[in-house]
Amino acid sequence: MNTSKHIYIETFGCQMNERDSEIMAQLMEKEDFVPTEDIARADAIIVNTCSIREKAEQKAYSLLGSLRRQKQHNPDLLIAVTGCVAQQEGRKMIARMPHVDLVVGPQNIYKLPLLFNQAKKKDKGLIVTEQSSAFLIPPFLPSMDQGLPHKRFVTIMQGCNNFCTYCIVPYTRGREVSRAKSEIIREVSHLASCGVKEITLLGQNVNSYGNDQSKDERTSFPELIRIVAEIKGIERIRFTTSNPKDLSEELMRCFADIDNLCSHFHLPVQSGSNRILKKMNRKYTIEKYLDKVAKLREYSPEIALTTDIIVGFPGEDEEDFQATMNLVEHVRYHGAFSFKYSSRPPAKSCDFKETVSVEEKSRRLSILQDRQKEITLERHREYIGQVHELMIEGESKVDGQWCGRSRTNHTVNFESTMIFTPGQLVNVRIDEACYNSLRGSLI
Ligand code: 5AD
Ligand code: SF4
Repeated sequence: MNTSKHIYIETFGCQMNERDSEIMAQLMEKEDFVPTEDIARADAIIVNTCSIREKAEQKAYSLLGSLRRQKQHNPDLLIAVTGCVAQQEGRKMIARMPHVDLVVGPQNIYKLPLLFNQAKKKDKGLIVTEQSSAFLIPPFLPSMDQGLPHKRFVTIMQGCNNFCTYCIVPYTRGREVSRAKSEIIREVSHLASCGVKEITLLGQNVNSYGNDQSKDERTSFPELIRIVAEIKGIERIRFTTSNPKDLSEELMRCFADIDNLCSHFHLPVQSGSNRILKKMNRKYTIEKYLDKVAKLREYSPEIALTTDIIVGFPGEDEEDFQATMNLVEHVRYHGAFSFKYSSRPPAKSCDFKETVSVEEKSRRLSILQDRQKEITLERHREYIGQVHELMIEGESKVDGQWCGRSRTNHTVNFESTMIFTPGQLVNVRIDEACYNSLRGSLI
C-alpha cells in the first residue's frame, strides 16, 4: 500500500522564494510527502508568501482565506505559511488566520519537517521567526536520476544591508550573509553532473557577495563568476539582482571575457530623479547610473538591459516623473518591471507623507508602461536579421514550433520538424519581432 502523503506548495514573489519552495519540497520529500498540483488532495499545504508590494501580500491572504473551508472538512490538513509575510506578521498571522498551523520565516525553512511534526501536536499555531546571521539553507544536491530541468537557481547569499527606504527585504530576510564559495562550487558541480546547463546565481544584492566574509576567505562576486564559469558542463551563467551603486568595472569586464556569461543585466534604477533616489536611499545619482550603463555597453555592446521602476514614491511630483520618463527614453531598456509605490511597514518610507493619489499613481504607471512597451518592441526589431544562439526550453504552445531563450534573455519561437531536448543549443536567424517574444528560423 502506498502510504505517501501529498504536499501542495504555492509560491508568490521572487526567485528567492521559488528557490526556497524547491528546498522545502526537497525536505518534505524526505518525509514521504509527494508533491501534488491538486490543492484539494493535499495533506499539507505551504503558502510561500511575498510582501515586497501590497498586491503580492493580498494575493497570499486571499489564498489563505480560501483554505479555511478545506481545513474545516479535513482537520488533519496541515497549513504552513512561509516567506516574507510569515516573517513579518508572525503571531498576527494566526490571529487573522486561525486555521493556519505553522508560520515560518525564510531563515527557518530548513527546520520544516521537524516543525510540521511539532505543529501536528499543538492545537494552536506554531510561530518560528527568529533570525540568524549564519547561512542556514541546505545545499540542493538531488540524486543523479531525478530528471532535473536544464536550468537552476543557485543561492549565493541571503539578506540585504542596503535599507532602501521603500523596501521590506532587510527586515524580512535579515542582514547579508554570503554562502561559502566551496558550498556554491559543490552545488553547481553536482547540478552540472546531473545535466544542468544553465545556472542563475541568486541573491538580493549579488555585488556585495563576500563582503561579510573574513579577509582570508573573501571572494568577490566577479571572482565567483569566473570560478563557476570554469565548471564543466555549465553552458550559461546568469545572475540577479544587483544594486547599481555596487556595480564594479571588474564585474563589467566579466561580460567582455567570460564566454558563458549571458549578455543580460537586470539593473534596477527605481527612479530617474536624483531627489527621489536620495529619498529612496539608493546611494547613486542618475549621472553615476548613466556612466555605469555607458561603460557596461562599452564592455558588452550587445548586452540587453532591464530594470525595475517605482512610480508615485512619496514626494514624487510631475517633474520627478518626467525625469523617469527621460531616463527610459535615454537608456531604452530592453524591458522594465514597473510598480506603483505602496508603503510596507516597517520600511522607513512609511513615515513619509504619501503625496501621490492612487489615481495619479495609476496614470503615471500606464504612461510609463505604454512607452516602455513601444521601446521594447523597437528593441526587439533591432534583432531582425541577426543570428542568435538559443537554449531550447521546450515545445512551444503552437503546434510544430519550438521555444528557446537567447543569451540576451529573449524568448524566441521557431518552426521545426526536428526533435530537441531542453538545454540544447541551436542557432536561429531572427525574422520577426512581437511585443513579448521574437520569431526566428533555424539555421
Ligand atoms: N512599493 C512598490 N514597489 C516596490 N518594490 C520594492 N518595494 C516596493 C514598494 N514598497 C519594487 C522595486 C524592486 C522590486 C523587486 O519591487 O522596484 O526592485
Ligand atoms: Fe530592497 Fe534596496 Fe536591498 Fe534591493 S537593495 S533588497 S531594494 S533594500
